[in-house]
Amino acid sequence: ATGYITIDQGFKNTGSCQSSITFLDGEKGILRYRGYSIEDLAEKASFIEVSYAVIFGELPTKTQLEKFEDDIRKHTLVNEEMKDIIDGFPKNAHPMGILSSLTSALTAFNPKPVDVDSQEAIYNAVCKTIAKFSVLSTWVHRKREGFPMNYYDNSKGYVENFLTMMFAIPTEEYKVNPVVVDALDKLLILHADHEQNCSTSTVRVVGSSHAGLFASISAGVSALWGPLHGGANQAVIEMLEAIKADGGDVEKFIAKAKDKDDPFRLMGFGHRVYKNFDPRAKIIKKAADDVLAALGVNDPVLDIAKTLEKAALEDEYFKARNLYPNVDFYSGIIYRALGIPTEMFTVMFAVGRLPGWIAQWIEMRLNSEPIGRPRQVYTGENLRAFKEISNR
Ligand code: SDX
Repeated sequence: ATGYITIDQGFKNTGSCQSSITFLDGEKGILRYRGYSIEDLAEKASFIEVSYAVIFGELPTKTQLEKFEDDIRKHTLVNEEMKDIIDGFPKNAHPMGILSSLTSALTAFNPKPVDVDSQEAIYNAVCKTIAKFSVLSTWVHRKREGFPMNYYDNSKGYVENFLTMMFAIPTEEYKVNPVVVDALDKLLILHADHEQNCSTSTVRVVGSSHAGLFASISAGVSALWGPLHGGANQAVIEMLEAIKADGGDVEKFIAKAKDKDDPFRLMGFGHRVYKNFDPRAKIIKKAADDVLAALGVNDPVLDIAKTLEKAALEDEYFKARNLYPNVDFYSGIIYRALGIPTEMFTVMFAVGRLPGWIAQWIEMRLNSEPIGRPRQVYTGENLRAFKEISNR
């Protein structure tokens, strides 16, 4: 059909689908997965329990959860040839670029498309994706540190073992700190899904062509990498470090962020949907205080973050634009306290967002949604005669 084409850049006022997974209320700062508030989930559930609910629609029974955790463990073996791919990257390659490549490469080792008409095939694909993506995420870190790329310890829980695979070295006994486990579990829950954000929309559009689940997730990793999206958690710490190095003058950076001629933005501030506090930022801010106190970490950038937040919230420019701290503003401070390198922060976001990407991809396929293919308003040349190269 021709008719009128309306352009909605950034899809600010466009809905792309119907979904029953996540509910956001930007005015009231509400976030729910499958009807459960993230305050309840972050407080009372585990990340794998929340992943089950996000993907399958209901909180699991004890039996279902234990089976899910076991079935994920069963799929943790990653083909050793994947290490050759990791070895092919230069040492300073960004972890998100490696992770996106590895996720796409999983198709080569698991070529059979997911039969979306089979509950069992979907369930197995879910377990396989969560298991392998998690192992690969830790291997990206291990490679950068020059540590051996090791494996799941089936006696441990998902988060405990993730931390072990990240940090344990063969020559020392690695004891997981329960404070660290609890903090990471909470952070992963808070990142699990967020309706049609940039990376999730990417996963849905790529999947709408019936490209495979790994290929779609790989595209989501790439979209998340951008500093305006998941990459913001790394950019926030780099910004706070820059403010610290510059003597801690937060007003100077707020002025830069307001200067239309300066591309600098206050990273970790603002949100397309939340025109009030991002409910996740509230929980993470409190967790940051608790975790750093429990670990006895005194991180000067946390104080700078709080000073910056206070100044920005009082600033007329920011108030007029409803700019508040978002999920990325404080998360990096906790990741840092957990010993996670800055360049791995967005990988941690991806590990958390994985169940949401998977759930949304499955929902899109089960709804038999059409291929994502928008139109445009053409602003180029009218028809013109071809010019021989000798006449150009
Ligand atoms: C995530 O969508 C999601 O749900 C994402 C996410 C998820 O869970 O998936 O929540 C995760 O990506 C959080 C956002 C992380 N990104 C950042 O922190 C980067 C900094 N933030 C901005 O770039 C921006 O706020 C966005 C990208 C988050 C939202 O951009 P929008 O909705 O397109 O808003 P906009 O760019 O049109 O800005 C509106 C106004 C503009 O000023 P005017 O032109 O109207 O005068 O607000 C200004 C912007 O210049 N503005 C900022 C700002 N964010 C917006 N000015 C300074 N600093 C900022 N951070």
